[in-house]
Amino acid sequence: MLPAVIAPSILSANFAKLGEEVDNVLAAGADWVHFDVMDNHYVPNLTIGPLVCEALRAHGVTAPIDVHLMVEPVDRIVPDFAKAGASIISFHPEASRHVHRTIQLIQSHGCQAGLVLNPGTPTEVLDYVLEDIDLVLLMSVNPGFGGQAFIPSTLDKLRKVRAMIDATGKPIRLEVDGGVNADNIGAIAAAGADAFVAGSAIFREPRTREAYADSIARMRQ
Ligand code: DX5
Ligand code: ZN
Repeated sequence: MLPAVIAPSILSANFAKLGEEVDNVLAAGADWVHFDVMDNHYVPNLTIGPLVCEALRAHGVTAPIDVHLMVEPVDRIVPDFAKAGASIISFHPEASRHVHRTIQLIQSHGCQAGLVLNPGTPTEVLDYVLEDIDLVLLMSVNPGFGGQAFIPSTLDKLRKVRAMIDATGKPIRLEVDGGVNADNIGAIAAAGADAFVAGSAIFREPRTREAYADSIARMRQ
């Protein structure tokens, strides 16, 4: 398995101080920046686009930016995110008419490609593309909002996808997103995840570097 990665979701950051929030969470020990893109169409919420990704790069962020696209259609926005400095671009197969083509599109722009499975999406969607992607992102809540409770059936799904990944012999990441906190991360890791998104469990009051470092340290433990 690959070394564990903690990816704070900036959905729960203070957007009025985004650069400072990202600096603090990275200084506190985060590995990646999880960047949730919602379009009020594929999901019932509206967030941030490539301009904000570009602004974080211009601000000096060098850590991997893990872009989670909850948009439909997907392809049109991929080149913009690649130009804006995205490292990984993940999308929901339901939002792309040609899943394999979207994977190729992302990789042809120099980014790693991830496929996102909603809680109700069967793992069969991975069957003919798993070897082509760099990351599988399992949603452990329904996409659209931070602060929801972890859906327990995700643990079974993680074990299943971990076995599928291991069978390929390739270094494909298994990321989990939604309701992850210091109390359940142990079980999630034991089920096979190696990348952990957490929004509300990290970006919490008093919103200091120390508080973020404390949350991240407890999650790593
Ligand atoms: C939900 C987003 C998540 C969310 C996680 O659609 O994809 O990344 O921000 O937030 P928490 O950790 O609060 O569930
Ligand atoms: Zn996300």
